[in-house]
Amino acid sequence: MELPKRVRIVEVGPRDGLQNERQVVSTETKVELIARLGAAGVPSIEATSFVSPKWVPQMGDNTEVMVRIQRLPGVAYPVLTPNLKGFEAALAAGAEEVAVFAAASEAFSQKNINCSIAESLRRFEPVMAAARDAGVQVRGYVSCVLGCPYEGEVAPSAVADVAATLFGMGCYEVSLGDTIGVGTPGKTQRMLETVARRVPMERLAGHYHDTYGQALVNIYASLQVGVGTFDSSIAGLGGCPYAAGASGNVATEDVVYMLDGLGIETGIDLEALVSTSLWICGQIGRVCGSRVGLAKGAACLTAV
Ligand code: HMG
Ligand code: MG
Repeated sequence: MELPKRVRIVEVGPRDGLQNERQVVSTETKVELIARLGAAGVPSIEATSFVSPKWVPQMGDNTEVMVRIQRLPGVAYPVLTPNLKGFEAALAAGAEEVAVFAAASEAFSQKNINCSIAESLRRFEPVMAAARDAGVQVRGYVSCVLGCPYEGEVAPSAVADVAATLFGMGCYEVSLGDTIGVGTPGKTQRMLETVARRVPMERLAGHYHDTYGQALVNIYASLQVGVGTFDSSIAGLGGCPYAAGASGNVATEDVVYMLDGLGIETGIDLEALVSTSLWICGQIGRVCGSRVGLAKGAACLTAV
């Protein structure tokens, strides 16, 4: 199959990345990160999450972030909402797009959101209804689509069941999370083909953590079967607080470099992305998790 001509990148660094930082990142730094990503041409930036601050204190400034960001026309700023309480707070803070998140594994669902998969889906029903009333778009996530840190193997049919339920409830897109980055290309394609029997491929997104260094090749494998939206994190920031050892999402710079090389448009300026990556790593005192960021950063230093 021909690869797509254009890919949509959903930047999840300010949420998936920073939710996992041990140190507190200031609201000001978060707001500036979001501004720099928007200026680099990223079309969708997951800004924060409206979860319990007892569970994820790093996102405790969610309302302040939403109130302070300067929204660029044509850029979406989705936020995570696990329940109606989170949705109402997100709406009050001006969110125009939210994401609900479920898992394909029972054990992960319990650890992450303290309830079963079925209960989580029931909790999303009032969120979907309230979102419809408010004209807010809802994205759905399924975690552990290629393996679970507690249960090991996860059947593609289990992923398809949850994805189809989210899509049927009205999620405009379902993002499939390889939360612990264990997938390999053949397995990724088989999972996608199973899910695509229930949810159209063009409504699926890939959300691959890079724990085992497989995320880029899994994106390539996903492009081959027709997926056209990928989540990624600037500088490869992040992980999941409820999946020990999980590293960040695939780095946005690495994805854009590969897509540029394939002649696939993203609308994102790679140089602006790299300077944003180096800037945020400097702000939070972290080594850049992007190979492209490191290579281009080293090239800048050599040039000086
Ligand atoms: P719970 O303790 O079962 O909730 O947590 P509860 O309903 O019993 O409420 C307990 C307390 O939390 C109450 O407060 C509620 O008001 C409060 P208290 O009376 O004790 O003072 N509460 C809230 N506060 C703020 N915002 C809310 C909210 N809801 C309840 N929305 C809950 C259930 C879902 C809230 C909790 O488990 C939680 O916040 N979990 C979030 C975990 C999380 O954020 N994980 C990371 C994001 S998911 C991810 O990274 C995966 C992804 O990237 C895809 C992938 O990679 O696979 C998306
Ligand atoms: Mg994630």
